Amino acid sequence: MKTKLLIYGITGDLSTRKLLPALKQIIGTGDFNDLSIIGVSRREVDVDALLQSSLGDTSLKDKVSIFSMDLANANDYQKLKEYLALADDEQLLAYLSVPPQAATSIVDFMGAAGINTPNVKILFEKPFGVDLASAEDAISRTARYYHEDQLYRIDHYLAKEMAQNIVAFRGGNALFSNIWNNVFIEGIEIIATEKIGIEGRADFYEQTGALRDFVQGHLMQLLALTLMDIPHDFEWSELPQLRLRALEQLQIADPAKTIRAQYEGYQDEAQNPGSLTETFVSIELASNQPRWQDVPIRLVTGKALDVKTSEIRIHLKKLHEAQSNTIVFRIQPNEGIDIELFTKKPGYDREFETRHLDLMLSNDAHLPDAYEQVIVDAIRSHKNLFTSSDEILRSWQVVKPIQDAWKMDNQPLRQYTPQSRIEEII
Ligand code: BG6
Repeated sequence: MKTKLLIYGITGDLSTRKLLPALKQIIGTGDFNDLSIIGVSRREVDVDALLQSSLGDTSLKDKVSIFSMDLANANDYQKLKEYLALADDEQLLAYLSVPPQAATSIVDFMGAAGINTPNVKILFEKPFGVDLASAEDAISRTARYYHEDQLYRIDHYLAKEMAQNIVAFRGGNALFSNIWNNVFIEGIEIIATEKIGIEGRADFYEQTGALRDFVQGHLMQLLALTLMDIPHDFEWSELPQLRLRALEQLQIADPAKTIRAQYEGYQDEAQNPGSLTETFVSIELASNQPRWQDVPIRLVTGKALDVKTSEIRIHLKKLHEAQSNTIVFRIQPNEGIDIELFTKKPGYDREFETRHLDLMLSNDAHLPDAYEQVIVDAIRSHKNLFTSSDEILRSWQVVKPIQDAWKMDNQPLRQYTPQSRIEEII
């Protein structure tokens, strides 16, 4: 189907670092010749310069046009509608690469201007809302003009190749499916660390912080994939419902079991002395699902740490102390699975050592970037890698007590030296 992709915020960080490169790949396959890109911007934009800085070439030149408008002016949305001139056999994907508050107001304006026919889809970036109340408000506001089927809420971690593989590994291998419960599993940790700091995104990050930026979305979704039931016959359309059920079984977080911290130098970078925005957070959770009873779950994330890594660590119960017991789903980098194995050292002596059975998916093929996957899925109306409004609300509910405690400022904010290891902060 002929597709017009409208990008609000085409000159922004996400668009230049992720969306345009993803679109270059997608269009390069030759399978999406019907796709055109319309960038929305307040200012005039030099398309050649934009493409050159994002892609290092201008190969998408013929595919990209710019519509300049004032995002707060209702008349400009009428002009946009005329400019789009959407035919019945075309679809429009409106990608909101803007902060959450701006996204809701753009959707209001678009709806009021009548850019909400069934062939219009809206793609939201996370975080969706900034807390439970604002997410509820955003959901009811968007529902005035758009049906849930038209809404695609992106959490790009769900679309990462290894995140999708969690379903395959868990469902397709007796080795995993038979032990996926509290009889065999002792604890679950989901960790996403970054070496980079806030990279000049102070405005965004001051309103967001690590809890909203990573925990409520990315980590909670990886957790849902880890805890949920696997659909029979790998029926992917059931995923949102199964993820939701797993999230519903989570107990509400206990702020007393939460650690928040900020890297030294953050306040200067954000130009906000006294800022309490956390750049590191560790929370403990538990599930009421019978198979996960008494299995501690820990979610940890932080910026300006020693390594960039995202992984799910499954710790198995040991029968005796010397046993190896860890399975790691490496979401990135070096996407794959690492199983710790206790082995006899080759040789005449009866000595033992722990070795690693390491499956590296990234060795075999080009792994599509998560943003390629979300754009392709949205074009094809495949919704299973997007988060439903119920999933969003449930995730906010789970972290609400932490946000409330932080608002009252009754939890200490630790400081850490940039490039620290997690263990040095916790
Ligand atoms: C985004 C966050 O969702 O994910 C950023 O807003 C973060 O702060 C980024 O840097 C990390 O994504 P990835 O795919 O590089 O791990």
